[in-house]
Amino acid sequence: MKTEGFGGKDFITLLEWSKEEVETILDVALDLKRRYAMGEYHDHILRAKTLFMIFYNQSLRTRNSFEAGMTQLGGHAHYLDPDKIYTPALPGKEVAYSTERVSDVARVLSRMGDAISIRCYGDPVDWVYGGANELIRNFAYWSDIPVLNMECDMYHPFQALADVLTVKEKFGGFKGVKFVMSWAYSPSIHKPRAVPQSAIIAASMVGCDTVLACPKEMALDPNVLAACEKYATMNGSSFDVTDDFTGAAEGAHVVYPKAWAATPIFQPPVGENDPARTQEIFDSYQDWKATREYMSLADPSAIYMHCLPADRGWEVDDDVIDNTDPESGWRSVVYDEAENRLHVQKAVMSLVM
Ligand code: CP
Repeated sequence: MKTEGFGGKDFITLLEWSKEEVETILDVALDLKRRYAMGEYHDHILRAKTLFMIFYNQSLRTRNSFEAGMTQLGGHAHYLDPDKIYTPALPGKEVAYSTERVSDVARVLSRMGDAISIRCYGDPVDWVYGGANELIRNFAYWSDIPVLNMECDMYHPFQALADVLTVKEKFGGFKGVKFVMSWAYSPSIHKPRAVPQSAIIAASMVGCDTVLACPKEMALDPNVLAACEKYATMNGSSFDVTDDFTGAAEGAHVVYPKAWAATPIFQPPVGENDPARTQEIFDSYQDWKATREYMSLADPSAIYMHCLPADRGWEVDDDVIDNTDPESGWRSVVYDEAENRLHVQKAVMSLVM
């Protein structure tokens, strides 16, 4: 049975956390970051504790930031490849002596460690929108220890926390900050909606003036858009959706152009499970790219953000993503953003484990 408050709570989407809780996480992350930079170690916080990490998909940042975070907090992160254990599966998806029911995996790991984290989207759930989120929620239902979402097909909450922590560091706060999450072209159509959905949830929750710019075929989950509108009303800020790539960038303080899946890639009833049609749609928007001309539309203090990995030459030009010189006006902060994954994850793990 999981407790109320931070201790023992699952971290699956920011929608299940209050603005005050998210602000506390950001404060703890900054505190841990500053103290670590001053040579103060915190290896007592999670001493002798174990985080199990199950990755159905590839990762550089998420895996290494969780592993480094557990080391710094005194615990151990244990990597589990679903193909090298009995692949955790839901009823109806089981294969004898090849898969193991999620309810069994969750209860076994709960007897041995202190949190279970999972990454799953796309092919492992056959592009059924919400299928990976359902898998993670099933883990959470059966687990006695916190379950952490390392990116599913709907949400990437740790990325979003790192994103807003980076905005806070660069602008000192969120009020009056125009945060533009935009689709950008990539030749790869196999990208989940998790990053943009969590980014606009986080930005609107903390009080940014948030804009979502995307072609109509890349529309996001209407429930996510409704939540963003609710947060904007609550904060006295704004939330707007547009299909005008360059118009959205005008006066922006944060520009965050990246590719995500077009609706036809998903299985019915959300899409038509049609990769060829999806590719055709993608290829018709090749001019949605972060160039110097695009950046010149933004506020002179603007920051370029990307969760990484970036598709250089398609989503963004090298001279945009590599411009980290603060003296030059707008600049790229992608490595600060990547580093902040470590700090926000240490904060959440410290609070829930
Ligand atoms: N941004 C992010 O989640 O990166 P990885 O896919 O490398 O984990």
